[in-house]
Amino acid sequence: MSSLRDLAVIAVAVWGLMPGKAAAQTFGYGRAATPAEIAAWDIDVRPDGTGLPPGGSTAKMGEDLYIVRCASCHGDFGQGEGRWPPLAGGKDNLTDDRPVKTVGSYWPYAPVLFDYIRRTMPFGAGLSLSDDQAYALTAYVLFLNDLVGEDAVIDRATLHKIEMPNRGNFNRVDGQEPDVTGIHCMTSCRAGPVRIHSDASKR
Ligand code: HEC
Repeated sequence: MSSLRDLAVIAVAVWGLMPGKAAAQTFGYGRAATPAEIAAWDIDVRPDGTGLPPGGSTAKMGEDLYIVRCASCHGDFGQGEGRWPPLAGGKDNLTDDRPVKTVGSYWPYAPVLFDYIRRTMPFGAGLSLSDDQAYALTAYVLFLNDLVGEDAVIDRATLHKIEMPNRGNFNRVDGQEPDVTGIHCMTSCRAGPVRIHSDASKR
């Protein structure tokens, strides 16, 4: 920080933080994001399926794509190649000394699988899949875990209805179900000391 310009930047910043100023005050930098820019970032999918895009597909449609873009790391059957993570298996072994946590054995909600695949996979090439491809691969990974049939259509109407085997084993605080719908109390809700009743890794 040496120039007059730097000092001017600090002065403007401090002025901006002074109490009583309207929150909408800007510092003269940048510009407001356009609706299209916000839409491009606003792609999260929630556990209840909120945010899933139109489109859909089946495991059968996803098989070839999985072999080409995913199997080199995750294995033809989702078993994991070398030290790359498995996507299937581990059924009922979460209480073992070395539990195998996979989509089938561990993940509580199916819609976030779509979000994860579309956002991050293939590793190093996130956001390269179309929505239909991401649906097809979501269906295929669920199929590898025996959770859907190969012809089951996976889309925004069906994905949240899939019952994930480990759904009931996540922490419940004070008897409440984990909130995925926004209907539970979200502010100042604690009615006493918090007790953790269970832990998926030490059940
Ligand atoms: C180059 C290797 C590689 C390829 C190819 C690849 N992945 Fe992955 N995948 C990974 C790694 C590494 C992780 C763990 C990332 C982490 O934990 O941060 C991962 C994690 C995942 C997970 C989460 C697993 C869990 O239980 O946490 C899913 C689901 C997944 N990949 C699906 C896919 C799909 C579908 C494809 C094909 C489009 C794909 N991956 C291609 C390396 C790869």
